[in-house]
Amino acid sequence: MKQITEARIETATPEAIARSAEILRTGGLVAIPTETVYGLAADAANDSAVARIFEAKGRPRFNPLIVHVRDRAHAETLATFPAAASSLAEAFWPGPLTLVLPRREGAQLSLLASAGLDTIALRVPAHPVARELLQLSQLAIAAPSANRSGEVSATTAAHVADGLSTRIEFILDAGATLLGLESTIVGFDERGALLLRPGALAREIIELVVGRLGEPRTAAGTSPGRLRSHYAPRTPLRLEAVDAGSDEALLAFGPPPHAQARLIRNLSIASDLREAAGNLFAMLRELDTAECARIAVMPVPKHGLGEAINDRLRRAAAPRDG
Ligand code: TXA
Ligand code: MG
Repeated sequence: MKQITEARIETATPEAIARSAEILRTGGLVAIPTETVYGLAADAANDSAVARIFEAKGRPRFNPLIVHVRDRAHAETLATFPAAASSLAEAFWPGPLTLVLPRREGAQLSLLASAGLDTIALRVPAHPVARELLQLSQLAIAAPSANRSGEVSATTAAHVADGLSTRIEFILDAGATLLGLESTIVGFDERGALLLRPGALAREIIELVVGRLGEPRTAAGTSPGRLRSHYAPRTPLRLEAVDAGSDEALLAFGPPPHAQARLIRNLSIASDLREAAGNLFAMLRELDTAECARIAVMPVPKHGLGEAINDRLRRAAAPRDG
């Protein structure tokens, strides 16, 4: 029987922060304090570490995650800043404000961290422990709130341990978080700044800097594409495929069939769901550029991370509304 070990909870001393940086650098998961709520942290450039976040949270779908960076200069290497975003970063970073920005081509980030989207949510946290960890590790750190899916965000190390202690390596304890509410999320379109999620930084304060915040368009409205809530390839998908024709690309899982496909990518030859989750968006994008008639997708098991993988595949296969 697999032994269940519990995460070590340690006070955030310099030694414990150094240990956390080491765990993150080697693909592990660490719960970290921020000024808003505790975050469930992983190296944002490591596909399988990011996949482990979703596994630990038990999320039935891949929501895009917030990526934490040490400063504005680090953020600039990952995303581009519209004028309004520059003003907001100038005014409120470090702090409880997340900006959803166009992702730079070639940014060193797992596509799974942004669930395959062309945008990335970035934040420079103000908490001294989070800042020290970002500085020491030199990583971009993906971190959703450190709670199991469907439960409230954790504001103490004990809350984190309640939900996640058998699923992560380490918990950095810095007492109760100061704000206790998630960061405010702002996105941008051609009209300017939009309030995507109310949070710890009040709308009125943000509006002092960029004027009136717009409302995001709903899926039914005309979408500019940049704030799409999920990734959708242009090529139609054919799910539960057991083979593939010569005009199709094949997204395989497990031992591949002898298929005629123009192009084949394998989510995981070893049928490992964590590896498959880490490869999903990058491989879909690659097959989408091959100009095939369809992307045939082999069945992926429905358990564990397979639930989220199947959810995304179904959405990607759904007919577009324009
Ligand atoms: O205070 C916080 O924001 C905490 C701490 C740990 O930083 N984090 C947090 O993360 O609340 P999470 O994963 O629970 O919430 C992230 C939210 C999700 O609702 C997601 O939809 C949105 O950010 N988001 C992330 N990337 C996005 C993107 N590219 N476009 C639109 N929304 C995005
Ligand atoms: Mg959350």
